[in-house]
Amino acid sequence: MKPRVLVTKRIYPEAVEYLKEHAEVDYAASDEGLSAEQLLERARGQQAVISQLTDKFPAAVIDALEGVEIIANVAVGFDNIDLAAATRKEILVTNTPDVLTETTADFAFALLLATARRVVEAHQFLHSGQWRKWSIDLLVGHDVHHRTLGIFGMGRIGQGVARRARGFSMRILYHDMVRAAAEIESDLQLEFVSKEQLLREADFISLHVPLLDSTRHLIGNAELKQMKKSAIMVNTARGPVVDEAELAKALDGAWIAGAGLDVFEQEPQVNPELLKLENVVLAPHIASASIDTRREMSMLAARNAVAALEGRRPATLLNPEAWAARSVPKES
Ligand code: DGY
Repeated sequence: MKPRVLVTKRIYPEAVEYLKEHAEVDYAASDEGLSAEQLLERARGQQAVISQLTDKFPAAVIDALEGVEIIANVAVGFDNIDLAAATRKEILVTNTPDVLTETTADFAFALLLATARRVVEAHQFLHSGQWRKWSIDLLVGHDVHHRTLGIFGMGRIGQGVARRARGFSMRILYHDMVRAAAEIESDLQLEFVSKEQLLREADFISLHVPLLDSTRHLIGNAELKQMKKSAIMVNTARGPVVDEAELAKALDGAWIAGAGLDVFEQEPQVNPELLKLENVVLAPHIASASIDTRREMSMLAARNAVAALEGRRPATLLNPEAWAARSVPKES
């Protein structure tokens, strides 16, 4: 008998086809997503769940799952899943790192450039027929080249952004809980600095930390007040890393110059104060949204699920402890 897999939301068709070659697939082929009750109902009797960042797996949901061996999340972030609860239950959890690194770094840099050089304002200005004459200070913005970029989180995506910044001859500061390897620092010409120094000296700040208790509201009132008045901040990580209400105040009160945001505290809601501002560029959580990358993310999650169902260790496993526990014979 083939194993059974639940796919909670629409994914790329190639991934569904692949899953169907290896399993019976219960495909919730819409973008709605499942409530906790629906999730538990549909997961009954399934051995794998292909989930997305909008599916919530708190401990209560995980504890109520029966027979599920793997949750394969189609995202690099996994703050939607209580990993400790899954590990306790010996449920494997996987994410989709690497395949989205360059695409996400491209978008972080796109937001940085768009905010600095007022690309969206310029488009709206022209589109609405306001362009009557060329003038010396029409839509003047901030230079990016040769300026200082501060990166919070020097993981894969942070490094991708640093590589792009090198092409713009930027000075690159970074702060992280763990210092990057010496070769990475020297290849990318990175300066490891304190949070305070980064906030004080950066012209541009880009956030690339995961959402953890320790990074929730990493950027709030105090941090925004330490930034330069000309600073521009970009967030392609997770919305709750920034206190959105404080950010809206900072942008409105010109404590900082601008922000490019792809992620929000209560997605898909956006703080209405942010929507009133001109010095922000807003996007609906699309940093990894290139055709190839979203397809690859879907395929990687599907491959992870099939590997687990066939008794192989999934390529991008987050909780090796759960894998180790599965291979230990249980006492009867
Ligand atoms: C992720 O992968 O965590 C992104 O936020 C969505 O691609």
